[in-house]
Amino acid sequence: ALRRSANIHWQPLEVDKAARSRIKGQSPRCLWFTGLSGAGKSTVANLVEKQLLAKGYHTYLLDGDNVRHGLNKDLGFTDEDRVENIRRVAEVARLMTDAGLIVLVSFISPFRAERRMARELFPQDEFLEVFVDTPLADAERRDVKGLYAKARAGKIKNFTGIDSPYEAPEHPEIHLAGGEESAEAMAARVITRLLG
Ligand code: PPS
Repeated sequence: ALRRSANIHWQPLEVDKAARSRIKGQSPRCLWFTGLSGAGKSTVANLVEKQLLAKGYHTYLLDGDNVRHGLNKDLGFTDEDRVENIRRVAEVARLMTDAGLIVLVSFISPFRAERRMARELFPQDEFLEVFVDTPLADAERRDVKGLYAKARAGKIKNFTGIDSPYEAPEHPEIHLAGGEESAEAMAARVITRLLG
């Protein structure tokens, strides 16, 4: 593939990640939430962010629905567009950890290969994959946004779980049983794993 960055060099910068996070008294992390539409990713990520903020941590939440209104508004839901969606968001998350933040990323991120690509951008202890494992039947029964009904009726194409695949994580750092646990209980488990 064409390497567009062939003639672009890394600019050495004087202030580094360690210095940026030190003044915040925190270690940068990327919490990568993945799961079906309606699994509860955003709900749990929101609760986690609120609790981290209350404890004085500097965080940022990147959420699929929101990022798709701005940075990624040129992308749809074909496999190719989802791959690009995740690639960009992973790079943004990396910039944010470089800025010293605890970043929460909440996207369906249905493909194993792209989640691996995201993981590989971070030092090993910095990246935590959080699988919000809500069975399709539960997400579809809730259908908070009415999208499953539309997908079943053929009004939305390439809908995850219906006519577009979701590849479940095999070794997530945190595995949440979305169909059984409350959002509060799931958030508590994430906080415990993160802060010890
Ligand atoms: S992906 O697969 O990671 O690129 O998706 P993401 O950026 O997280 O966007 C998912 C939200 O977009 C809405 N939506 C769809 N989801 C899945 N498939 C199709 N075809 C689709 N069309 C729109 C949906 O509200 C998702 O929101 P969540 O919060 O996941 O329920």
